[in-house]
Amino acid sequence: MKKKIYIAGAGGMLGEAFYRIFKDDYEVKCTDKDVNEKWLSFLDFRNFDAYKRDVEAFKPDYLFHLGAYTDLEYCELNLDDTYLTNTTSVENAVFIANNLNIPVLYISTAGIFDGAKDFYDDWDEPNPLGHYARSKYMGERYVRENATRYIICRAGWMMGGGPEKDKKFINKLIKQLANGNRNLNVVNDKDGTPTFTVDFAKNVKLLLEREYWGLYNMVCNGETSRYEVAEELVKILGLDNEVTVSEVSSSYFKDTYFAPRPPSERLINKKLELRNMNIMRDWKIALREYVNDYYADYLKEKNIYPVKEYITL
Ligand SMILES: NC(=O)c1ccc[n+]([C@@H]2O[C@H](COP(=O)([O-])OP(=O)(O)OC[C@H]3O[C@@H](n4cnc5c(N)ncnc54)[C@H](OP(=O)(O)O)[C@@H]3O)[C@@H](O)[C@H]2O)c1
Repeated sequence: MKKKIYIAGAGGMLGEAFYRIFKDDYEVKCTDKDVNEKWLSFLDFRNFDAYKRDVEAFKPDYLFHLGAYTDLEYCELNLDDTYLTNTTSVENAVFIANNLNIPVLYISTAGIFDGAKDFYDDWDEPNPLGHYARSKYMGERYVRENATRYIICRAGWMMGGGPEKDKKFINKLIKQLANGNRNLNVVNDKDGTPTFTVDFAKNVKLLLEREYWGLYNMVCNGETSRYEVAEELVKILGLDNEVTVSEVSSSYFKDTYFAPRPPSERLINKKLELRNMNIMRDWKIALREYVNDYYADYLKEKNIYPVKEYITL
């Protein structure tokens, strides 16, 4: 008999990879308020009674609480909805999991740090700057202080989901290139660590199967910056002779991206390393695989990707 996992908020970037990685070895029930796949059903996890009813009816062995609002600007402008979605719904998940005596998984973020240091390990003290980060950190704290058994994984700059689901940096750049833009303006004052959703889901699976409960930083290996990621992407696409990546400071985007962001949100997977559980790959390898696996068809359609042979580094 397969063990059962209830995955809440599974319709986004990370949910796509979790479904893919867990569906064969587990019986999964995936829900979201945006039912954009046939393997999803509707659940708004802000509604405690509905959440509890739906999870209890499925009788899972684990509860994964993946969903959140991840648009920092939306969060700055919609505080009640943000805390309801990113924080009190996490309290819902903990009540439900504790009541069923099952472990809960929560996804936290590298964005909870203030950037006063260049790198953060699992034990550094968070100091969130904006409301997205604060709402996520309050969720993290609630899980740490109240869940009977939990895994919390802190992700960095997410890469996943492909053209339809990726709401973040890589997709924004690829869409600009697909629309014919040959000069990318990219900030030169933001450091962080990309996180490939597929690697992340695999690493969570490993922790779960070993029952290594607790809090873990979980990002791709290697240190980098927004600027370097953009340069690497252009190189992977074979466009380095046609496209320029121009450095700008964050103030260039101050009207569009007005939410506070730390200058560094680089994480180190110290605990994963100490426990010999770090299967996250280098971000450049992960980025190459992400582009090849998720964007080849889209880019071919747009006529900008030479569809080079897939290179295993
Ligand atoms: N994206 C990143 O760079 C990043 C970095 C670090 C950590 N994380 C964390 O990783 C987790 C997964 O994020 P993601 O990148 O996969 O984001 P995503 O693509 O936006 O997916 C999140 C999903 O949750 C759904 N959701 C939001 N409110 C909900 C509710 N009340 N009930 C049910 N579903 C709801 C969203 O639906 P709608 O689209 O309708 O809102 C969306 O389908 C989040 O906890 C996030 O904070 C993300």
